[in-house]
Amino acid sequence: MGKIEFTAKQNELIRAFKQNKLKRLNILEGSVRSGKTWISLILWAVWVASRPKDYLYMMCAKSLQTLKRNCLLPLQELVGENNFKFSPSTKEGILFGRKIMLEGANDMRSEGKIRGITLGGAYCDELTLFPKDFFVMLLSRLSAPGAKLIATTNPDVPTHWLLTDYLKNEKLDLLRMFFHIDDNTTLPADYVESLKKEYTGVYYDRFIRGDWVVANGAIYKVFSDAPTAFYAAEMPSFEYVNIGLDFGGNSSQHALVCTGITHEMRELYALKSERIPAADMTPQTLYKRVYVFCEGMLKRYGKISAVYADSAEQTLIAGLREALRPLGIVVKNSRKREINDRIRATTMLMGGGRFRLVSEECGSLVNAFKGAVWNDKIIGKEERLDDGTSDIDTLDAFEYSFERYIPQLIRSEK
Ligand SMILES: Nc1ncnc2c1ncn2[C@@H]1O[C@H](COP(=O)(O)OP(=O)(O)OP(=O)(O)O)[C@@H](O)[C@H]1O
Ligand SMILES: [Mg+2]
Repeated sequence: MGKIEFTAKQNELIRAFKQNKLKRLNILEGSVRSGKTWISLILWAVWVASRPKDYLYMMCAKSLQTLKRNCLLPLQELVGENNFKFSPSTKEGILFGRKIMLEGANDMRSEGKIRGITLGGAYCDELTLFPKDFFVMLLSRLSAPGAKLIATTNPDVPTHWLLTDYLKNEKLDLLRMFFHIDDNTTLPADYVESLKKEYTGVYYDRFIRGDWVVANGAIYKVFSDAPTAFYAAEMPSFEYVNIGLDFGGNSSQHALVCTGITHEMRELYALKSERIPAADMTPQTLYKRVYVFCEGMLKRYGKISAVYADSAEQTLIAGLREALRPLGIVVKNSRKREINDRIRATTMLMGGGRFRLVSEECGSLVNAFKGAVWNDKIIGKEERLDDGTSDIDTLDAFEYSFERYIPQLIRSEK
């Protein structure tokens, strides 16, 4: 395997393996970047190499794509191409002469595919992201003598099936090992420091502390604790200037937010936000207001890459397209990425000091950030409270304006 050094925490796991103390289920949990996946792959490789050649083994992640990126390529790097070959198209690999099936847990056909087979071992990366049905089926297939599961996960809500039914289930033959980000002594200190800043609120508790916690209270606490820290001092030049538009219903208001992204995707600036009362408004008067807003931003910043409008309102979008044509501005559909992904992106930019706003122009957005809270009535995955007590429309418009750039703005996945 070349020259490798384990962290103290990783050594603990390898020691357990050498002393035959692995259990039927072996689950590594904890913070991001704590070294779980890396050591789990080494453990998987040495364990599989010690097992019968005629058993069938399986490796899975949320999707085949993430499996390849997070596990198959790193594993190949660790053990060398001679010892591990794989093909995503045939969904098979060979590890030290043992046949490994490769699966994406979110692939609907996967559960059917593993029904009826006998597995000598299974590897799962990021278990909380698996559908429970898939995992239940997988465990039922681990029926060869001495079969084991080796898996990693970050924490999630305390009601997550993985915690309640498995990790906390004392009847199971289970080894549960906790990894903290500080356990990964191979990471540069300044990198760890900046990661710790990027995760705020519930994300800090889960992905840095490694706790299974619910989200409650203020969503943008990092902002509302010190709003002035986010006020833009001077204006940089922007690579992209975009406008997000959320159409209000009869009782609510339309919301407009203009944002700019600086060169190399370094920072996100909120440049202007506006609310337009929906009552007594015809489509024409709405188009006029949006036109004036866009014209102002175009004059001020010299460009508008696009207006991203709420894709639920195709008729209004068609009318708006016509109305903005004289300005040469295109109107596109909002992508509607998952709301929690948009929230996480915003809070990471805020925590990392990469979000700024023009305070005099963004009154409604400032209030929207201050008012947004998690819905504490939800038991499963967290949700932004949307009961009319806070300005969700402005947050939607803000997010529509930059959501297509989230993968470039936020390089980490969670
Ligand atoms: N012993 C080691 N030697 C060298 N590099 C290591 C070692 N352990 C971990 N790393 C590196 O540290 C980084 C984080 O490790 P890893 O991906 O295993 O974390 P993780 O706990 O799985 O994080 P996440 O929850 O974000 O998936 C990776 O780049 C990995 O290659
Ligand atoms: Mg990992």
